[in-house]
Amino acid sequence: MSDIKNTNYDLLQKQLISLIEDESNLIAILSNTSALLNDHLDQVNWVGFYLIENNELILGPFQGHPACVHIQIGKGVCGTAVSNNETQVVKDVHQFPGHIACDANSNSEIVIPIHKDNKIIGVLDIDAPIKSRFNDEDRKELEKVVSIIENQIK
Ligand code: SME
Repeated sequence: MSDIKNTNYDLLQKQLISLIEDESNLIAILSNTSALLNDHLDQVNWVGFYLIENNELILGPFQGHPACVHIQIGKGVCGTAVSNNETQVVKDVHQFPGHIACDANSNSEIVIPIHKDNKIIGVLDIDAPIKSRFNDEDRKELEKVVSIIENQIK
């Protein structure tokens, strides 16, 4: 959509690598990644991570308003990304069956699974206040962001 400022993904990814390349602590890596994404991405109202613990998703580092802590695998956009092991790009969250509304401002969303040792350990979740915020380029570039994290934690 034309009212979204372009993201310089190349710069974002270079900054991410230099921010996390000497770091091994997962929470520190995810905290700085959520802050960097929040700085770079226009028209987003929540950026953060959910991590799998005892077979459910638990809220991890994020930027935005307080959010739901527990999400069951298979539920909501986040739980669906885990059970399908596939990025979910939702143009209108109000049309997504079972969408979990943590922030009433959210209208579209992208959720990308994060892997370690070929297993999903959590997701990156980004919410936007406008519909259709994330296009195919955003999906590809944000999947690269997740690959950078995966390389750092493997
Ligand atoms: N909307 C998500 C829940 C997490 S919040 O967006 C931060 C979902 O349906 O899984």
